[in-house]
Amino acid sequence: MIKIEAIIQPAKFDAVKAALDNLGITGMTITDVRGCGRQKGHTEMYRGHEYTVDLLPKTKVEIVVPDDIVDHTVSAIIKAAATGMIGDGKIFLYKVADCIRIRNEQCGVAAL
Ligand SMILES: Nc1ncnc2c1ncn2[C@@H]1O[C@H](COP(=O)(O)OP(=O)(O)OP(=O)(O)O)[C@@H](O)[C@H]1O
Ligand SMILES: [Mg+2]
Repeated sequence: MIKIEAIIQPAKFDAVKAALDNLGITGMTITDVRGCGRQKGHTEMYRGHEYTVDLLPKTKVEIVVPDDIVDHTVSAIIKAAATGMIGDGKIFLYKVADCIRIRNEQCGVAAL
């Protein structure tokens, strides 16, 4: 199992969510975050406004998926979230040791 953590433009969340739905992915955690990348301290556009602050609003999407669908899922997120502009976001991948469904103590991929 791999945790895919995608930091995306908030305006792209609906498209990313639809792409994940299309792949049959159900479980996810969404967080409103602030962040910066390489252009720290430089101007970036957000919803038609120019920001010169270092920390811009982003949406963090966390999903844990079986190993065999990681590549496909990452590609789908990129396709849905990309505009080609700076600030499009970033994807981090983490190995997950286990997953346990609290209700019935199912473990591993079966619990996702
Ligand atoms: N190295 C990093 N560590 C943790 N979070 C990061 C890192 N780089 C980017 N992020 C997060 O991802 C968001 C989007 O980053 P961003 O797309 O601006 O990356 P970038 O490397 O500057 O690429 P680009 O040149 O396309 O803008 C940031 O606002 C921040 O929340
Ligand atoms: Mg950037």
